[in-house]
Amino acid sequence: MANYRFFIDYLIHKFSAKTRHGVHSPFVYKLVDEVIYDFSTKPYEEEIERKRQALKKDTRIITVTDYGAGSMMNNGKQKAVGLIAKNALKPKRVAQLIARLANRFAPVTIIELGTCLGITTAYLAKANPNASITTVEGCPETAAVARQTLDELGASQVQLKIGNFDIILPQLIQEQEKIDFLFLDGNHRKEATLNYFYHCLPKVHEQTVLIFDDIYWSDGMKEAWREIKNHPQVTLTIDLFFIGLVFFKKGQEKEHFKISY
Ligand SMILES: C[S@@+](CC[C@H](N)C(=O)[O-])C[C@H]1O[C@@H](n2cnc3c(N)ncnc32)[C@H](O)[C@@H]1O
Repeated sequence: MANYRFFIDYLIHKFSAKTRHGVHSPFVYKLVDEVIYDFSTKPYEEEIERKRQALKKDTRIITVTDYGAGSMMNNGKQKAVGLIAKNALKPKRVAQLIARLANRFAPVTIIELGTCLGITTAYLAKANPNASITTVEGCPETAAVARQTLDELGASQVQLKIGNFDIILPQLIQEQEKIDFLFLDGNHRKEATLNYFYHCLPKVHEQTVLIFDDIYWSDGMKEAWREIKNHPQVTLTIDLFFIGLVFFKKGQEKEHFKISY
């Protein structure tokens, strides 16, 4: 049933979303034209995708600790790294877009919630070599594989914190002067997603970009996305179906875009 609803939502999005041509906001038009639809190959992509393929064939078995929405099913389960690489990572197309977005906004600091095996983290690091990047993963054994991935890909500068987002995020936010770029990819529950959003708000600024993953994953996630869009501090959102972008630019009317990707 949930899969059927997701498919219907996908079709609705596909037919209602715009391309760059239907967009009147100059900021969004430029972002769509120059970043979202920039499919040119970047120098760091090939190496990371090679590592993804190697991880898919990785037969090591690890014990999964899951604090996320799938925790009842997954906790303490033994899983092959290869299976995690096949099922849990952002696909190439989305990971590369997130890297391009981070490159475009040149954030001083980047936070990723949900490292998993470190593939999207590696994209963020390679596309933004000067940014200070912190990624958070709840499962120690998954995080150990991610650390290897990042070191092998020459992204040792990434700080990898192990623990529940519920505990680590408030500490992280307290330590940071401001939040420039945050990608939330884990714990797809309505309450948790909204909690993380509200934790961020005191430190967002005009250039902040928040990215929420899987905004159509469940009724709860759709409700969370609606509440985020309607929040008075949010001035612009871009719904790309698989991810949603949130901006806090001042001096513009509140606008929400659905863009085909
Ligand atoms: C979908 S995967 C992340 C994929 C990764 N961003 C990528 O594309 O390469 C989500 C990860 O978040 C972690 N996670 C989920 N909920 C969490 C929580 N509450 N605290 C810490 N980690 C959590 C899971 O252990 C899992 O590894």
